[in-house]
Amino acid sequence: MAANILTSRCVLVTGATAGIGRALAREIRDLPTHPTVIVMGRRQARLDELAKEGFETVKFDMDTTPDKIKAFADEVVGKYPELDAVILNAGVQNMVNFAEPEKVDFSKISSEFNINYLAVVSMMAAFLPHFIKIGDSLQKERPALLVPVTSGLAMIPLAPVCNYSATKAALHSLTFSLRIQMENAKTNVHLLEIIPPLVESELHDAEGTTDSLSKFWMPLAEFTSIVMDGLKEGKIAITAGSATATYDRFEKPKENLKNGMMNVDIQK
Ligand SMILES: NC(=O)c1ccc[n+]([C@@H]2O[C@H](COP(=O)([O-])OP(=O)(O)OC[C@H]3O[C@@H](n4cnc5c(N)ncnc54)[C@H](OP(=O)(O)O)[C@@H]3O)[C@@H](O)[C@H]2O)c1
Repeated sequence: MAANILTSRCVLVTGATAGIGRALAREIRDLPTHPTVIVMGRRQARLDELAKEGFETVKFDMDTTPDKIKAFADEVVGKYPELDAVILNAGVQNMVNFAEPEKVDFSKISSEFNINYLAVVSMMAAFLPHFIKIGDSLQKERPALLVPVTSGLAMIPLAPVCNYSATKAALHSLTFSLRIQMENAKTNVHLLEIIPPLVESELHDAEGTTDSLSKFWMPLAEFTSIVMDGLKEGKIAITAGSATATYDRFEKPKENLKNGMMNVDIQK
C-alpha cells in the first residue's frame, strides 16, 4: 500500500487559519487514527479559536529567511518528535499586470515568490533531516509525508495572476524532482502533491475577486472530501475538478519519465 495519511501520528498544516488548510486540519484531526494536528498561520485570534477545538497551534510568518524557517522547524521537531507529515499549504495570490509596468510592485512579486515557493522549499529542506531519520530507523514501516499544495495554475497559467502561476509551476516541478531524489536515495519520505482547482476560500479576498470567482469555485467541503480520499490512498497527485483534466492531459505522462528523462545521472 502506498504511503498515506493513515499512518501519520503528527501532522503540521501550514496556512491552517482559513480555507483549505483549516478544512484539511479538521478532517485529519478527525481520522480514526487521531493524529496530533499542529495548525500554523499568522493570525493569533484564529489560532486561539483553533486551540479551543483541540489543535496544537504555532504562529509563524512564512515570508522570512531560510535560517528562520530552519529554526522554526527545529523548534517544532523538538516539541513534537513524532512529527511525520507536513502539509505545505500556506499561500497568497496577487494580480500583476506587466502591460502597466509602472504599476508593477516588485516587493509584492518577491513576497509572493517567497511565501509560495522559496519558503516552502526551505521548509521541506528544514524538515528533511528529521523525516529521513524516522524513515531510516528501526521503524522502516513508518513513512514521512511532504505534501505541497500547488494549483491547477501550475500547469496552465492564468495571465492576471502570472507570478502566482509561476510560483506554483516552480513548486510543482520541484515536487517531481524531490520525489525522484527521495526514491533514488531509498528514503521513506514521500511527496504527495495537492493540486486544487478554483476552490471556495479566502484566497481571493485580498484582490477583491471573491464575488466573481465564487460563481465558479468548487465548494470547500466537496474539495476537502476529494483530497482526504487522495491522502488516505497515498496518491502522488491529488487533483479535483478542472485540475484533474489538466493533470491527466499534461502532467500524468511525466510520471512515466521518472525512470528515464527525468532521472538521468548527469555525474556519470
Ligand atoms: N482557493 C483556491 O482557489 C486555490 C486554488 C489553487 C491553489 N490554492 C492554494 O491552496 C493553498 C491554500 O489557499 P486557500 O485557498 O485556502 O487560501 P486562504 O483561505 O486565503 O488561506 C491561506 C492560508 O495561508 C496562510 N498564510 C498566508 N500567508 C502566510 C504567511 N506569510 N505565513 C503563514 N501563513 C500564511 C493564511 O493564514 P494567516 O493569514 O493567518 O497567516 C491562511 O491560513 C494556497 O497555497 C493556495 O495557493 C488555492
